[in-house]
Amino acid sequence: MVNVVVIGSQWGDEGKGKLVDWLSSQADIVVRFQGGHNAGHTLVIDDVTYKLSLLPSGIVRPGKLCIIGNGVVLDPWKLVEEIHSLQSEGVTITPENLKISDTATLILPFHKELDAMREDSSPKNNLGTTRRGIGPAYEDKVGRRSIRLGDLKDPKTVKNRVDLMALHHDPLRSYFGVNPIDKENIYKDIMNIFSKIKGHISPVWQELRNSIYQKKKILFEGAQGALLDLDHGTYPYVTSSNTLAGYASIGSGIGPQHLNYILGITKAYTTRVGSGPFPSELFDKNFDQLAKRGNEIGTVTGRPRRCGWFDSVLVKQVAQISGIKGLALTKLDVLDGFDEIKICIKYKIGNKFIDYIPSSISEQSEVEPVYESIRGWKTSVRGIRNWLDLPREAKEYIQFLEKQIGVDVDIITTSPEREDTIVKRNPFDEI
Ligand code: GDP
Ligand code: IMO
Ligand code: MG
Repeated sequence: MVNVVVIGSQWGDEGKGKLVDWLSSQADIVVRFQGGHNAGHTLVIDDVTYKLSLLPSGIVRPGKLCIIGNGVVLDPWKLVEEIHSLQSEGVTITPENLKISDTATLILPFHKELDAMREDSSPKNNLGTTRRGIGPAYEDKVGRRSIRLGDLKDPKTVKNRVDLMALHHDPLRSYFGVNPIDKENIYKDIMNIFSKIKGHISPVWQELRNSIYQKKKILFEGAQGALLDLDHGTYPYVTSSNTLAGYASIGSGIGPQHLNYILGITKAYTTRVGSGPFPSELFDKNFDQLAKRGNEIGTVTGRPRRCGWFDSVLVKQVAQISGIKGLALTKLDVLDGFDEIKICIKYKIGNKFIDYIPSSISEQSEVEPVYESIRGWKTSVRGIRNWLDLPREAKEYIQFLEKQIGVDVDIITTSPEREDTIVKRNPFDEI
């Protein structure tokens, strides 16, 4: 019983990459189980910054097996690009340390084009997607016409699926005024890229099953965040996959009983990229301070992130629906220097107070945050690695959050650097 699932507990970009990299020193295997290259996970190791989109963050540590599970949608051209880019920085990536599920689904160029055409067609209603083709690729998966990696060794199946997808996509493309899919070229490009990645493709569920027998430690790396979950997030302003911890089981092919410890990565304030409700969003000088100090620029798209105070209503709800056992509170240093720090503790809607986010998008947009203020701290916490060294007000802030959410903060991070991490309870020791 030695496996940890890391998920984002807000709208993504909570600092999952840094935590997965830090935890991976204790793991044997690191697994991505959903999403695709819409993710942008940043690791800073001895002043060198690595930005990963598809590859599990364990890849930078020698000797770790990294797995891309069946729940991921995979753009093979981006995969090859990311592998080459990391290799040029000295990271070893071979079929021995990177294995990809033969039942993961492909993202193809027309998925990306459709994503962008939809976003551009209605600026008023757009979702602010990453335009990577994630949504359209998952739609084709559910529509049962996708190409899965294991299909690539059978050219007839590939041709047949390209035909099927064209049948679905060409009318959409015609609506947007673009040419039908060039089936012959797509087919050739797919077969060409297959030759570059085929060594990595295998039934990874078997590898995971054997690892579980051998009591190896598995670290599951969630992408996006719980509030972007297709079922439980702020729908329709969500991503097209399930981001909650339960999906680690489905998206990799192991039983749910093997998900032993769920660590919710939680930013010490709140950010969001793209459209959608955000009750505690700030537009004043506090926004400027959070955005600037937190360097809140999207890793994947370079868009500025929206920023706001910590919303304990949302994180508490997320902790309850995803079974979070402990929290990792990240970017505490960004709150240095505030006179007062606010925490959203409930919502007002009409004359009523509620302690959850309503399901309808109209009500989600109407809720008003109700804040509790606590005193900020005047000395910097940046780089602190020991709980006892934190200023009293910072400890009080963390304890206030724990009480509101009902879950302990196990880990605190105080800079982007791998080692600037305070550990109160190590998830791998707890299992
Ligand atoms: P992810 O998508 O959850 O992996 O998060 P991102 O990498 O997209 O965004 C988190 C950003 O915060 C990255 O630039 C990290 O280097 C940075 N970061 C992580 N932890 C800390 C921290 O404790 N303090 C500060 N200042 N930055 C951090
Ligand atoms: P990481 O793993 C933050 C957001 C997009 C958009 C919505 C749908 O780095 O935390 P999509 O392209 O997935 O169809 O876009 O989801 N989004 C993210 N926001 N961090 C991410 O990943 C995200 N991945 C998708 O901005 O609002
Ligand atoms: Mg990110």
